[in-house]
Amino acid sequence: MADLLLHSMAEFAPVILPLMDALHVRDTLEIGVEYGPLTRLLVDRARAAGGVHVGIDPAPKPEALEHFDNLHGVLCEGRSLEVLASLPAMDAYLVDGDHNHFTVLNELRLIAAAARITGRPFPLVLLHDIGWPCGRRDHYYSPDAIPPEHRHPHTWDLGMRPGDPGVWQGGMRGEGAYAVALHEGGRGNGVLTAIEDFLKEAGDLAFFRIPAALGLGVLVDPLHASQAGSILAPYHDNPLLERLERNRLELYVRVIDWQDQAGAQAAPAR
Ligand SMILES: C[S@@+](CC[C@H](N)C(=O)[O-])C[C@H]1O[C@@H](n2cnc3c(N)ncnc32)[C@H](O)[C@@H]1O
Repeated sequence: MADLLLHSMAEFAPVILPLMDALHVRDTLEIGVEYGPLTRLLVDRARAAGGVHVGIDPAPKPEALEHFDNLHGVLCEGRSLEVLASLPAMDAYLVDGDHNHFTVLNELRLIAAAARITGRPFPLVLLHDIGWPCGRRDHYYSPDAIPPEHRHPHTWDLGMRPGDPGVWQGGMRGEGAYAVALHEGGRGNGVLTAIEDFLKEAGDLAFFRIPAALGLGVLVDPLHASQAGSILAPYHDNPLLERLERNRLELYVRVIDWQDQAGAQAAPAR
């Protein structure tokens, strides 16, 4: 059951790795390492390219630690907004940490500032969880780290169902790992909303969306838009992918309901 949800950004490796090659990416940075399946791929890639892959996570899982050799793989244990400003500009960023509007908007601002300071174009930025459930609803690993005026009322216990903007007993939930906003939608809520708000202030960037495996967003400088588009076009806003993703999430929530009804002790497979 462990992989039932397909929740790792590593699922996108068949798209991400050719995209990085096409854009001549060398140094990479990953916000949110967790178990490290993507970290392993990107440290290997950095080693082959003579570059470095940096991971940022306040609580990486022990399984991830072996990937960091302090040469081509460097772990910064901490929160993105505390660590990013002290790091040099990278060629590509993978954003998959605390999935809420305040965090993602400010991660993007820091990424843009690092490029600007060094006179580089806006880098390749890949953002996970732009679809349901995080796209329009804040999730918080550490609600206390979010300023109260940017934090929505949230719950650690109640769950979500596709198509329902509220919360319920049951459904998809964090089981103590993260809290979710009580309501989906509206201002300052969710990862996709944060990207849209960033695009309003950052101006002319290209934005691609892959509606699969919880949703991947890709931001690139206009200089690289046509190269990126040549790889991403088959996936971008693809209605078949969107339908399949919707269907699998509805089925996933149904499995959670069955587990709950059966009184299963196991956490929802995630
Ligand atoms: C969804 S998991 C990442 C999965 C991983 N990127 C993958 O594709 O397999 C989210 C991770 O972000 C970390 N995290 C939570 N808040 C963070 C923050 N403010 N900065 C960086 N990482 C954070 C969590 O500890 C967790 O390990």
